[in-house]
Amino acid sequence: MTTLEQSLPLLPGKPEIPDDAELAGADERAWRELLGRLSRQSVTKHFDAYEDVAWDDPDHAVQPDDPRFELIPLDPLGGTDWYQSQPQPVRARIGLHRFATFMKVGVQFENVLKRGLLTFAESLPNDSPEFRYVYHEIAEETQHSMMFQEFVNRTGLTVGGMPRSLLFFARSIPSLARRFPELFFVFVLGGEEPIDQMQRRALRERQWRHPLAERISQIHVIEEARHMSFARAYLLRHVPRLGFFGRGLLALRSPFILGNMATLMLEPSAQFVRRYQIPKDVMDQAYRKSPVFAGLRRDSLAKTRHLCQELGLIRPPFSWLWQAFRIDQA
Ligand SMILES: [Fe+2]
Ligand SMILES: [Fe+2]
Repeated sequence: MTTLEQSLPLLPGKPEIPDDAELAGADERAWRELLGRLSRQSVTKHFDAYEDVAWDDPDHAVQPDDPRFELIPLDPLGGTDWYQSQPQPVRARIGLHRFATFMKVGVQFENVLKRGLLTFAESLPNDSPEFRYVYHEIAEETQHSMMFQEFVNRTGLTVGGMPRSLLFFARSIPSLARRFPELFFVFVLGGEEPIDQMQRRALRERQWRHPLAERISQIHVIEEARHMSFARAYLLRHVPRLGFFGRGLLALRSPFILGNMATLMLEPSAQFVRRYQIPKDVMDQAYRKSPVFAGLRRDSLAKTRHLCQELGLIRPPFSWLWQAFRIDQA
């Protein structure tokens, strides 16, 4: 079992995670070597939801009025006068509820992701290098979901997660992994990149004040680097092999998926807004009409957008969709 202390020094330069140039240039041998490398990292550097998180450390207790749960600076709602004028226990509860909602959405997203990966693996032939890697990823996502759900349970709050309409839509995603794996891996990046960017930035800027929030983010960021690397590698390898029709369909559907995923991951749900009676003008100020949030939203998918650009998926007549979903380049 790897300790965090052993793993963290590898984070800044991430030498073990290949860059796009390496991913794009991979021939059959390099592709096998790459997946072997990612799989080996899963063996030497992985975490267990219960062994590697000190849930019962008294300093890690989850109390809804703990000021360490107040919204971190990264969340624009925290900077509004409305939030700042709330009594301290309410500010803490809102911050905890926001974080727990991220965790719940994470559990739901990873549920769909794991089912999709299992569907993907079902179609692989013997001796396929993807098989072992994908099973490592499923195992890691299983640990993440247990870790997220354990946190949600400890809050004692009613944590809703995704809106029902999206949960309904998500049911169709796992079968995409067989019918249209390229679109499935765009969906994967759409869920993983915004969470990863937020967690990475909060860690770098030492924004987490509660040690459980920090620990969960550290573990997640380390393992997600591999998952995103595989999704990117898959797209770089397979999108150029798609025919005219497949590429057009991917170019059309990617911004819909990515735009909706960015909203889901970054903005409070309608249910959350109702629960805390957040006024409309406060929502406008923090999210809908905020230039700072607009930048945050665009940045949250910067790498995936760049990849789509490289793959020729952002082009007329589809470019306006990226603008409409506010995920185009600033
Ligand atoms: Fe995860
Ligand atoms: Fe992941």
